[in-house]
Amino acid sequence: MTPKHAHLLNRTVRYHEAGSGRTCILLHAFPLSADQWLPQLHRVPPGWRFVAPDVRGFRGMGQAYQDVGLDTATMASHAADVLQLMNHLDVDRGVVGGLSMGGYIALAVARAAASRLDGLVLADTKATADSDEGRAGRAAMIAKVQAEGVAAIADAMVPKLLGATTQRAQPDLVEAVRTIILRNTPEAVASALGAMKTRPDSVPVLAGLTCPALVICGAEDVLTPPADSEAMAAALPAVTTAVIPQAGHLSNLEAPLAFNQALTEFLSRI
Ligand code: MLT
Repeated sequence: MTPKHAHLLNRTVRYHEAGSGRTCILLHAFPLSADQWLPQLHRVPPGWRFVAPDVRGFRGMGQAYQDVGLDTATMASHAADVLQLMNHLDVDRGVVGGLSMGGYIALAVARAAASRLDGLVLADTKATADSDEGRAGRAAMIAKVQAEGVAAIADAMVPKLLGATTQRAQPDLVEAVRTIILRNTPEAVASALGAMKTRPDSVPVLAGLTCPALVICGAEDVLTPPADSEAMAAALPAVTTAVIPQAGHLSNLEAPLAFNQALTEFLSRI
């Protein structure tokens, strides 16, 4: 799939686009890129257009490096980036979905501009802020990526990102995820860690959401386990849930058929 580029006011964003009709924005996990969504972009349901941008700083193959504002990125600024891209694409309202870090950003969009949401997809994510221990872990990872580079982050993250079944049965996917991670720069990784570390608690946002929400989680997710999804679902007024068997944290990549089925069914009802 050939990526597109949106030339915005102060930066260029790479994104994938497929299908036509109503828009569903898909936001990727840390520390991947929009390439994470290729299995969904290849199976867009009729009547829908999927748009998957790189979160600011992240990059895929061949992308020129021209990011600004990495030092000051927050979940709110990432949400503003999503809304800026929606404006650029003339999308007034759409579905916004994200996996893990992408889910944190989707929740920040809901906080900033709920009126622009026809639906929200929260995959392998959580609404709570980092604990003190979590924030200390982020600081240690920032120091690690600055000292040792992105490969050290890939070494630390890949075994947690993928479920036990995938690690055993899908060695090609393990390598593919590593390859996506290694295309990123230490600056992008450190910036995202800083933004995740300071993200606010989004639990209060959930109860006020009037649009339908889909909460998806891999049954083998160890980073944001199914209990986190159950807690979000319990707080959402209009929610559908799906647990993806034999998938870990990157459920859309590990079990794309089951993930696509849950997403397609949700979109067909809104
Ligand atoms: C992700 O997959 O985006 C990260 O695991 C999220 C996080 O570290 O909180």
